[in-house]
Amino acid sequence: MSIKEVPSPIDLRNPEDAVQWAKEVNLKRPWRAQFFDYYAELIQQHQMIDILDIGAGPGDLAKHLLARCPDIRYHAFDFSEAMHKLSRSKLPAHELDRADYIVGDFKQLDWADTLQQYDLVIIHQALHELRNKAYAQDFHSTVKNKLLKAGAIYLVCDHLFADGAMTNHELYMSKQEHLDNLQQAGFEIAIPMEIRGLCLFQCH
Ligand SMILES: C[S@@+](CC[C@H](N)C(=O)[O-])C[C@H]1O[C@@H](n2cnc3c(N)ncnc32)[C@H](O)[C@@H]1O
Repeated sequence: MSIKEVPSPIDLRNPEDAVQWAKEVNLKRPWRAQFFDYYAELIQQHQMIDILDIGAGPGDLAKHLLARCPDIRYHAFDFSEAMHKLSRSKLPAHELDRADYIVGDFKQLDWADTLQQYDLVIIHQALHELRNKAYAQDFHSTVKNKLLKAGAIYLVCDHLFADGAMTNHELYMSKQEHLDNLQQAGFEIAIPMEIRGLCLFQCH
């Protein structure tokens, strides 16, 4: 069965589109910072060091974590040099020293092969960038099999397909679809937060 890619209305590799997205996102969904607070607390609680942020974007999460968690090494993975540039521009030198920026495309089969293993892997508001929910289970399996240290945690936060939330059902999943995919990839899952259609799945 061939999978239909849902075209994106913007090209996040284009510097102008990246700047535009970065300008709007925190105005549209200011509550996303509450998820970032949760991640920072989890990191401190478990004394995590190596953090991988997949589809890392313009640096809101980078800034949030590096400022609050002095012991982490933050690894940003994104296919957009423009996003990495925005992210770097938000960090002072002492935070940049603890950050590294990897350019890669998670739609390529071998996307994870050059990465290491991490204490925490986060994908925040970027899973739907697979451009079809049919790719999600393989993506989660790759994270489970290649990117997690023993005892590591995997955080998936994305918009739900639900009443009052997202309406494109090829791109976005219901809560149950997320749970099914993650379970089939071999994870045990909790849902510690859900705010206005943005839902966090905490997996190990
Ligand atoms: C909607 S933004 C979310 C950014 C960030 N996680 C945040 O919440 O601020 C999605 C990010 O995923 C990146 N992205 C999209 N498709 C990608 C792909 N195939 N491989 C790697 N990164 C991708 C985009 O460049 C963008 O930075």
